[in-house]
Amino acid sequence: MNRATFTINRLVQSSLSRRTMASSSASALLRSKLRDPSLLREQAYIGGQWTANNKTATFDVTNPYDGKVVGTCPDLEAEDAANAVEVAQTAFQSFRHTPARQRATILQNWHDLMKEHEQDLATILTYENGRPLEAAKAEIQYAASFFGWFQGEALRAYSGETIESSAPGQRVLTFKQPVGVVGVLTPWNFPSAMITRKVGAALAAGCSVVVKPAAETPYSALALAELGERAGVPAGVFNVVTTHAHLAEVGKTLCEHDLVKKISFTGSTRVGKLLMEQSASTLKKLSMELGGNAPFIIYDDADIDLALKGLMAAKFRASGQTCVCANRVYVQEGVYDTFVQRFADVVKREMVKGDPTMAGTTLGPLISEAAATKVSGLVEDATKGGAQVVLGGQEARQSSDPSTFYPATILKDMQPSMRASREELFGPVTAFYRFKDDDELFKKANDAEVGLAGYVYTEKLSRAWRVSELLETGMVGVNTGMVSDPVAPFGGIKHSGFGREGGRVGLDEFQVLKTITLGGLGLPVTK
Ligand code: SIN
Repeated sequence: MNRATFTINRLVQSSLSRRTMASSSASALLRSKLRDPSLLREQAYIGGQWTANNKTATFDVTNPYDGKVVGTCPDLEAEDAANAVEVAQTAFQSFRHTPARQRATILQNWHDLMKEHEQDLATILTYENGRPLEAAKAEIQYAASFFGWFQGEALRAYSGETIESSAPGQRVLTFKQPVGVVGVLTPWNFPSAMITRKVGAALAAGCSVVVKPAAETPYSALALAELGERAGVPAGVFNVVTTHAHLAEVGKTLCEHDLVKKISFTGSTRVGKLLMEQSASTLKKLSMELGGNAPFIIYDDADIDLALKGLMAAKFRASGQTCVCANRVYVQEGVYDTFVQRFADVVKREMVKGDPTMAGTTLGPLISEAAATKVSGLVEDATKGGAQVVLGGQEARQSSDPSTFYPATILKDMQPSMRASREELFGPVTAFYRFKDDDELFKKANDAEVGLAGYVYTEKLSRAWRVSELLETGMVGVNTGMVSDPVAPFGGIKHSGFGREGGRVGLDEFQVLKTITLGGLGLPVTK
């Protein structure tokens, strides 16, 4: 090593260690809240190593509640993503041949470790995402349930058929093989569950993965990596590339890399379309779980108490920041006024805004100030167009509130011409529309570019069935506000994307079908 190289290396090392020291002081607060502080990792995870891949640049992760820096992560670049893909490819060559029983055991261990560390995982999620602690725990349980589900599916990969060939005396067999290295791109709204839903299926199938978590919420992904290592996930099978400034180029690298055989993405329709374009040149298998604009329908004959409960769940989960949140609530005219008033009473009673780490808080901040500004713009547009504010709204914002807060808000007399009817509210705003009959309802409810989830409340079986069949969405909740369940295939139609996650079919997304035609079997053939 010459002197100049030595000096440069020293400089890089000292800058790295300065940054490491700086990051540990920023992250000391969160670390002090954890029973197992080693779950908070501030490095990327590639090939079983905690690493910055020799990069010195880092980015800050901030707490949406108080704007304070929670810690830092390496700001990795396209070449680091490519390196992770190569590492994942090497790992895939042997992982694909591990017995299903072994992959199932790893997933079961991972699930059990998540349950054991539920409190810490929830605390990490709360600090980086702003989700109130109890709700964060619910996400960790939901996230772990995908490992639980897919460990079973790994064992039950009943793949293949035996088919009598068109040619005399021949037979055709099919079976399924793991697709290969998977690029997993996940959002900030479910920092843990959107990873486990994809990765559980990928590992059950025998694939390796490169995860690019959202820049806002990398620590949940890195905590999963730490637990994955303890669970026995072989080095290189689960990799996490953290990035912020190079988000677009890292995504593009995963999409364009020939060794990546599948992209599984959850996020906006706009980005999904871009990733699909980028994946075209290598003809990748894709799953796209994109935006929604869920209609939530309440007929005159509905069980109103049940509908109130369901709407609370479908609206306020993650402070309204989910793709399956009720975006347009259609109430039949006979119960419209009563329902809106009763819902306002429940919201006033149950939605308690505040510090998400405090017990009793049910409404945390949104992910960023920009998110709160967007919600505020949609509410303003609706009120200018004639919607009435029943609760919350701009007036209810207090100067002491963090800039990321938006109050629980109820709007009534919404119209299809308003922006909130076409765009995802992605915040704690419930928008009520009145409807008279099915003709009007279907015209309005299906007038959306996207089609992820929909909900209907009625006591009439024929109505429930008709709505379920005619609603242009990938999922329908009948008399329930919750469609998310590891056993149930999750996904949309129209511009909400394609592919299904969870359920029995969730595994297929990470497999390819192989056909074998067998001749020369010596079978008797009658001419
Ligand atoms: C999402 O919002 O993208 C996922 C929500 C869920 O899994 O329930």
